[in-house]
Amino acid sequence: MMKAIALLAFVSAIAAADSAFAQDTLPDGTGKAETVSVCGQCHEAQKSASVKLTRKGWTETIDKMKGLGAQGTEREFAAILEYLSTHFKGDLDEALDLNTAERLDLESVLQLLRRESAAFVQFRNARGPFTSMADLKDLDAAILKKIEARKERVVFLASKK
Ligand code: HEC
Repeated sequence: MMKAIALLAFVSAIAAADSAFAQDTLPDGTGKAETVSVCGQCHEAQKSASVKLTRKGWTETIDKMKGLGAQGTEREFAAILEYLSTHFKGDLDEALDLNTAERLDLESVLQLLRRESAAFVQFRNARGPFTSMADLKDLDAAILKKIEARKERVVFLASKK
């Protein structure tokens, strides 16, 4: 029961985060139809387009979504992996969760200076957990600009307590 409630909370947070990307559309290509139907079951399929990952990263994300209950055939999951690792290819195996990321990772993945990562953590302690970029709007402008420039590297996961 608790699990179901927590899942609902995650999904509504994602729906909120997604509206920022609502005007974007997924690029055409093989596997798009499968991505839209399978990955649109809980959050908008567009959610996938908010991050860029390595093929390993996509394999792990898809496994995580299966664990959360994503339904599809092996053929569909294979097509989704091809689609995402072609059109949303990045250099990270895992997106950085801004709700839990440690200072060293904030510095290396987002190129924050040491004082900026300290300021970010202070802001997060006061204002987190965050659900989308919109929650960061009161951050120091220079820090916000760096995060926005690398927003396909970050996610806002629900805190797992
Ligand atoms: C059964 C519901 C469900 C389906 C179907 C689903 N997701 Fe998710 N997805 C979630 C939940 C819940 C989260 C939030 C996880 C969290 O906050 O820890 C999430 C988060 C994400 C994230 C953010 C980063 C992360 O690692 O959590 C990405 C990217 C993502 N999903 C991609 C996909 C893709 C690609 C598919 C299709 C293969 C998919 N999702 C299908 C439930 C689902």
